[in-house]
Amino acid sequence: IIAAFQPKVMAGKRILITAGPTFEAIDPVRGITNLSSGKMGYAVARAAREAGADVTLVSGPTALDTPFGVTRVNVQSARQMMDAVNAAIDGQHIFIAVAAVADWRVANPSTQKVKKGDSGAPVLQFEENPDILASIASRTTLAGHPYCVGFAAESENLVEFGAAKRERKGIPLLVGNIGHHTFGQDDNTIILFDEHGHTILPRADKLTLARQLISEISKRTNKHSL
Ligand code: CTP
Ligand code: CA
Repeated sequence: IIAAFQPKVMAGKRILITAGPTFEAIDPVRGITNLSSGKMGYAVARAAREAGADVTLVSGPTALDTPFGVTRVNVQSARQMMDAVNAAIDGQHIFIAVAAVADWRVANPSTQKVKKGDSGAPVLQFEENPDILASIASRTTLAGHPYCVGFAAESENLVEFGAAKRERKGIPLLVGNIGHHTFGQDDNTIILFDEHGHTILPRADKLTLARQLISEISKRTNKHSL
C-alpha cells in the first residue's frame, strides 16, 4: 500500500520508539554489541509516521537511513539509550521498545586502548544495565500513558516465554519474534501477546508487519481512549 493511502489512525499521537543494538565500550576503540540490524524498529517508526504519528526514534548504531519525517536521536550504550528515552518520554502517548538492549555492560572499561603484551588477555567484568522498558512501564499513568509495547526474541518456547515476559515487564502488549534467525532479515514472523492470549501474524516483510502492528496498537489504544 502506498503511504499516502494508509489510514491516518495515529494522527495526533506522539510515539517514542527504540531500535537497533546497543554498543557497550571495552575501551575507546572496542566494545560489545549484538546482531540487531535495526530493520524492525525502523520499519515500525516508518509505519507509525505513515499512520500520522509524531515519531521519535532513539537508535543504537545501525547502517539504516532515518525514515521520512521521523526525529532520530543516536545513542551507543544502554545507559545513553535510557537517558535519551527519559529526555523524550514526557507527553508521549505510546512507547515501543524494539531495541536489542545489552543486558550487561563492561564494568571496568579502559579509558585508554588496551595494549597486547604486558598483562596477557584482559579480563572483563560485567554489570547489569537498567531495564528501559520496565522502568517506563512502571510510570504509566491512570490514563494509560504511555501505552508500552515490548519486543522479545526467544530461541525456544516462544509462546510460553512471551506470555510470561509480558507479565513480568508489566506491559499490555508484547511482540514475540522467532529467535535470532530474523536478525538482519527483511522478513519475520511475529506473535502478539496481550491480556487475552496470543495472535500469530504470518510471515511477511518487516514493513508489512510493522503496519499491522501499528494498526493493532491503534485499536488497543483507542479502547484506552488516549
Ligand atoms: N529492554 C529494555 N531495556 C533492557 C532490556 C530489554 O528496554 N535493558 C526491552 C527490549 O527493548 C524489549 C524488551 O525489553 O522490548 C524485552 O527484551 P528481552 O531482551 O527479550 O527481555 P529481558 O527482560 O532482557 O529478558 P532476557 O533475559 O530474555 O533477555
Ligand atoms: Ca535481554
